[in-house]
Amino acid sequence: MRAYLIAAIHAVVVLVSSTTVLASEEEQVYAKEIMGAAQKEKEWLVWVRRKIHQHPELAFQEHNTSSLIRTQLDKLRIPYTYPVAKTGIVAQLGSASRPIIAIRADMDALPLQELVEWEHKSKIDGRMHACGHDAHTTMLLGAASLLSRRQDKLQGTVRFLFQPAEEGARGASQMINEGALQDVEAIFALHIDATIPTGTIASISGSFTAAGCMFEAKIVGVGGHAASPHESVDPVLATSFAILALQQLVSRESNPLNNQVLSVTFVEGGTALNVIPSYVKFGGTLRSLTTEGMYHFRQRIKETIEGQAAVHRCNASVDFKEEYFPPYPAVVNDNDLHLHVERVGQLLLGPDNVHAAKKVMAGEDFAFFQQLIPGVLFSIGIRNDKVGSIHSPHSPFFFLDEEVLPIGAALLTAIAELYINEHKHTVQCNSFNNC
Ligand SMILES: *[C@@H]1O[C@H](CO)[C@@H](O)[C@H](O)[C@H]1NC(C)=O
Ligand SMILES: *[C@@H]1O[C@H](CO)[C@@H](O)[C@H](O)[C@H]1NC(C)=O
Ligand SMILES: [Zn+2]
Ligand SMILES: [Zn+2]
Repeated sequence: MRAYLIAAIHAVVVLVSSTTVLASEEEQVYAKEIMGAAQKEKEWLVWVRRKIHQHPELAFQEHNTSSLIRTQLDKLRIPYTYPVAKTGIVAQLGSASRPIIAIRADMDALPLQELVEWEHKSKIDGRMHACGHDAHTTMLLGAASLLSRRQDKLQGTVRFLFQPAEEGARGASQMINEGALQDVEAIFALHIDATIPTGTIASISGSFTAAGCMFEAKIVGVGGHAASPHESVDPVLATSFAILALQQLVSRESNPLNNQVLSVTFVEGGTALNVIPSYVKFGGTLRSLTTEGMYHFRQRIKETIEGQAAVHRCNASVDFKEEYFPPYPAVVNDNDLHLHVERVGQLLLGPDNVHAAKKVMAGEDFAFFQQLIPGVLFSIGIRNDKVGSIHSPHSPFFFLDEEVLPIGAALLTAIAELYINEHKHTVQCNSFNNC
């Protein structure tokens, strides 16, 4: 009976998940038109992407990247606001009326030496676009170009957010503070993914990437001769207990169905084999697939370290290094927008090329936008063994299959245009568009 029930439930689940919306003839014509138009832009897109790739710029220093985008927007006669968040740009197309949606791309590179030898390798030592932000920026520019030629059909507004400083510097927050989300009801973004093939996407409803924070602790005792521990207060022992106690937190205080991870990644203290040091420093990182979970455990990290230090007669201070590593929220995708992305993906790429995204414990500052309005971040495949597009982001060997550029530009175009078509009479309200 039980086995039968489970089998029946299974069958229903399979049935539902394999049901794909059959595209109407009109929609198929539209998909062909958009994909065709994007392919015609490929040469230009590759040129833009290579130019950005060869001149990588770090967080809030994306001056040349920003300038290149503005030059292209000028050529396309697309109006924009600059500067927003130092180097950022907010371009806009459409009727200037609701519905107003935003698409976001990040522009910053990483402090990493590119180890791929190819004609368009980074020209700047120690800097590299290893997270695909050069491609994201190019695809957003591509979508702006495609939509600029379809403006008369747009019964709403598309805003293009070219954002600085995604890699840990909260560029998204600054864009928000400077008004980028004003009147926006939904926001979309994509991120390249080397685990799924070019020509596919993956999306998920709900939690997608983790919230996180860093911590660094100093446990202070009294140093002395290792042979007379009773005359010292030993911070090494206190640190050992603190680290072990930290590892119980996730095990005992988190719902086993939720996802969090706490890793202590460095310990530093002492200089001699026969001296008890006066202090020990250690630290690490905490990730959680819910923002509340992150804030809960962040507080517990502090209490645990201070408590364990006190048990061992030491004093502790815990520093969350907010100035350099501000805590960031989890990316939590809106279900309706996720379904919209899936449907558009199926329409443009075919039903077999839209997958369920796997959750990751890495962070993405797109989460800051989603704290205020519904949004979806989805993955776009770049895996292509033939060209060596197989390395994960942040690898010095990261290499992009440039075939993704027109595909991404077409997807963003259709996601925006079809959303507006479907919502032109039903504006979604939130605290940002006060409708
Ligand atoms: C940005 O452009 C300036 C002026 O052309 C140049 O000197 C500089 O090296 C460029 N920076 C990067 C990162 O390419
Ligand atoms: C801890 O702090 C208290 C209060 O400042 C101080 O009296 C004590 O000596 C400190 N203990 C150690 C081991 O540093
Ligand atoms: Zn990254
Ligand atoms: Zn990234």
